[in-house]
Amino acid sequence: MGDRATYLGKVYLVGSGPGDPGLLTVRAKTLLECADVVLYDALISPAILGLINPQAKQVHVGKRRGNHTLNQPEITQLLMHYAQGEAVIVRLKGGDPFIFGRGGEEFLALVQVGIPVEIVPGVTSGIAAPAYAHIPLTHRDYSSSVLFVTGHEAIGRYQPRVNWRAIAQAVDTIVIYMGLHNIKDICQELIAGGRDPQTPLAFITSGTTIHQQIVTTQLANAAAILETTPIETPTLIVIGTVVNIREIAQNYGDQMGLS
Ligand SMILES: C[S@@+](CC[C@H](N)C(=O)[O-])C[C@H]1O[C@@H](n2cnc3c(N)ncnc32)[C@H](O)[C@@H]1O
Repeated sequence: MGDRATYLGKVYLVGSGPGDPGLLTVRAKTLLECADVVLYDALISPAILGLINPQAKQVHVGKRRGNHTLNQPEITQLLMHYAQGEAVIVRLKGGDPFIFGRGGEEFLALVQVGIPVEIVPGVTSGIAAPAYAHIPLTHRDYSSSVLFVTGHEAIGRYQPRVNWRAIAQAVDTIVIYMGLHNIKDICQELIAGGRDPQTPLAFITSGTTIHQQIVTTQLANAAAILETTPIETPTLIVIGTVVNIREIAQNYGDQMGLS
């Protein structure tokens, strides 16, 4: 007989949404209020952390680029550790847990050792940040398709799994997570793949929060603009004609005397 651990608890992989506490789901709020332990990422808003059961253990396991509090195997080990002694373990992740948040890895690691897991979807930044910036990802006249893609895989450093040239003309709207640091290469590849260099592009930083910052430009100018305009993370990049709708709406707002 091996020393297989006994797990008493259940792990809830919970999406916290992109920042605005108003976008937290009712299910997520209920779980935070009754959690025994909460392991949370960086960038979770203080207002959301304030909802956590005051008796719960709170563990910051957050990751920011180049500054990992705990690595992925350590986070998984910690979840397994708490599942042996606690009942309600909440793993609180930014946005949606299954969209570029390594939630899939944590889920598989836990179910493989027999820990019950429930997924609580969150509002992903790829949907919420453009919406708050008044950029509809689809529009009957301008966009019939939208793609969510990571820009994290450095082009040229190793074989990237994202084929930017193939994507270039295959979809109308492209939403890029974690793309800021590779934006120059990404834009070059999209243009090489046949995308119009004048295609509108938006950088949305800290979308849905009071720190939200939006910079719009065109595909061909995106890398150059970073040299003059400092753009922080987290930033989402939206590429497509739909970006213009923000400006159209702003013009109407101006005419009406709105800010
Ligand atoms: C590791 S991914 C996690 C995505 C998350 N699971 C989600 O569904 O939004 C982190 C990236 O999401 C994007 N992101 C997350 N929150 C954001 C926000 N409030 N505004 C803009 N982009 C955001 C950025 O591209 C950031 O680099």
